[in-house]
Amino acid sequence: MTVEQTLSIIKPDATRRNLTGKINAKIEDAGLKIIAQKRLQLTKQQAEAFYAVHKERAFFGELVDFMISGPVVVQALEGENAVARYREVMGATNPANADEGTIRREFAESIEANSVHGSDSLDNAAIEIAFFFSKIEIAA
Ligand code: CMP
Repeated sequence: MTVEQTLSIIKPDATRRNLTGKINAKIEDAGLKIIAQKRLQLTKQQAEAFYAVHKERAFFGELVDFMISGPVVVQALEGENAVARYREVMGATNPANADEGTIRREFAESIEANSVHGSDSLDNAAIEIAFFFSKIEIAA
């Protein structure tokens, strides 16, 4: 078991429905610590840069438009195996396939408006945390 950090984004569908606290409770109940957090309105350029890895995908344009449709809450999380643990807590990308009790099963509206993002690997977690936070903003 290793202590890791991962990036979480509470997406516009969830901030719009005032679900930040309920999602944070699920994160904390799973033993993950929120070590940095801020609410932002992403620009189109920022959303395109963050999701650059998906730029060839058919859904890229819609994904970017959705991510700038309202505020997001970006968070750095820390805990044992945080990358994989948070992916369990989120549930499958498509809420129709997400397990009972997961964030996406309970809150997501669709595969696009799926309430949360979490890093998919430890390497990407470091890149994604650095995209939003400077070292001084993280208190572990
Ligand atoms: P996320 O974990 O933020 O990473 C990329 C996002 O693209 C994903 O969650 C979904 O919200 C969104 N998305 C939209 N359509 C699709 C799709 N068909 N397959 C995968 N992801 C999709």
